[in-house]
Amino acid sequence: MAQQDDIFKKVISHSKEYGFVFQSSEIYDGLAAVYDYGPMGIELKKNIRDYWWNSMVKMHENIVGLDAAIFMHPTTWKASGHVDAFNDPLVDNKDSKKRYRADVLIEDYAEKQREKGNKEVKKAKKRFGESFDEAMFRQTNPRVVGYAAKANDAVKRMAAYLDAEDLEALKALIEELEIKCPVSGTGNWTEVRQFNLMFGTKMGASADSSSDLWLRPETAQGIFANFLNVQKTARMKIPFGIAQTGKAFRNEIVARQFIFRQREFEQMEMQFFVRPGEEMKWYEYWKDTRYKWHMSLGLNPENYRFHDHEKLAHYANAASDIEYKFPFGFKEVEGIHSRTDFDLKAHEAHSGKKLQYFDPEINERYTPYVVETSIGLDRMFLLIMCHAYREEEVNGSKRVVLGIPPMLAPVQVAIMPLTKKDGLPEKAREIMEDMKYDFNCQYDGKDAIGKRYRRQDAIGTPYCITIDPEGMEDDTVTIRYRDSMEQARVKIADLRGLIQDELSMRTHLKKILKKESVAQ
Ligand code: GAP
Repeated sequence: MAQQDDIFKKVISHSKEYGFVFQSSEIYDGLAAVYDYGPMGIELKKNIRDYWWNSMVKMHENIVGLDAAIFMHPTTWKASGHVDAFNDPLVDNKDSKKRYRADVLIEDYAEKQREKGNKEVKKAKKRFGESFDEAMFRQTNPRVVGYAAKANDAVKRMAAYLDAEDLEALKALIEELEIKCPVSGTGNWTEVRQFNLMFGTKMGASADSSSDLWLRPETAQGIFANFLNVQKTARMKIPFGIAQTGKAFRNEIVARQFIFRQREFEQMEMQFFVRPGEEMKWYEYWKDTRYKWHMSLGLNPENYRFHDHEKLAHYANAASDIEYKFPFGFKEVEGIHSRTDFDLKAHEAHSGKKLQYFDPEINERYTPYVVETSIGLDRMFLLIMCHAYREEEVNGSKRVVLGIPPMLAPVQVAIMPLTKKDGLPEKAREIMEDMKYDFNCQYDGKDAIGKRYRRQDAIGTPYCITIDPEGMEDDTVTIRYRDSMEQARVKIADLRGLIQDELSMRTHLKKILKKESVAQ
């Protein structure tokens, strides 16, 4: 774990050193859990957002976009349940004065039990070799069965207490499981209490409470409120989706782990409106399709898993998280939720306006059900950085390289004249002028070539193009590949063809949508 902690610290300092992420208001000693994206960061973020947008809106004839305002009528949040139910159960350790989410403490306890079970399985696998039947061992080994039962029991009881809003029972469970504060090492806990996560603000000069507004805690409600506007103006037929990216705000109490949990962050959400009764089919479809999106980026499947929810949000009848193995453990990157007709019905009730759809195929009017996919852009960014960061030894010295999927790299092609003489800079500029329309290019003419390669490795540039005197004779350049560090001499005329496949979204998008016919 110490090693993983170390890697995470390196990702954070690398992000700052190379202009990916800065602490907000750093000159005033920073603002906790709020971050700014620098010149490299904004490019990576934009590329991830574009890839998501293209995979949703460009690739599906039945998904359209929306950009709803951050401010919404305050009744929106009453209807959505956020005023009454968007709470975290908090508990403080009296000795360390540290604050925790009670549910996270219990989930961490359960995860530890599962890890103990996994260790037993690993040991047995080693002992028995080829003949080892893992499934049978998990079902019959008393120790493994015991750990799994402890984990499941804790999570089940937690879900039941949260549902019943029984905070006393939740505290008693933490004590019974002998959960200790990682800082003080004691189990000296305060009562558990609920804390609403929405940020409030006011509109206009009036002091009366009718002007109280909330900063949206999710982008989804802008989509629900515009359901009919979009359906009618874009002439959408069910099933169809509305996609949106934008800022969301949550007054996170336990805000840790860099950009993983922020108070201001960006979501990429899509609400898919379906016939009542067909939601589970679409829920499975979107789980599968979203997983393929992640895999299309060449990420390691071993670092991914689904986590089906025991405790469902107030609006859902099924929910699953796509989790990634960050250096601090498996954590949620994306949620796929079957939200039923909860939101549209609630907005109908609070606004007095009908939010229904007439389905010409079955000659029926109904309130559609909704399956949502919701991914945090900042979390996806962090995932890419954690996946990408590596240190290697090359000829006795260290190279730090970001193995960012080439299509997402902030700089895709670095163009480098070997020296500043013999017309090399002019030729390099000529190539840059031609390539910049298709790729993110950077002209890099300073320092020794080895130093320039290291600089480009550190920001994840997949291709470096070097213009040298030999190439001036025969219209060639050398292309240097980030990951293998191999170099090849190629014709300038062949350059684009060589790299465009790997850099184009087309190549990656094609990998995702095998079951496309279902969603069209
Ligand atoms: N509309 C559904 C919804 O908002 P959620 O699971 O609360 O569901 C969706 O959030 C995604 O938003 C999460 O999977 C995560 O990636 C991202 N997210 C949530 N809270 C966040 C925070 N405080 N900082 C960064 N990302 C966050």
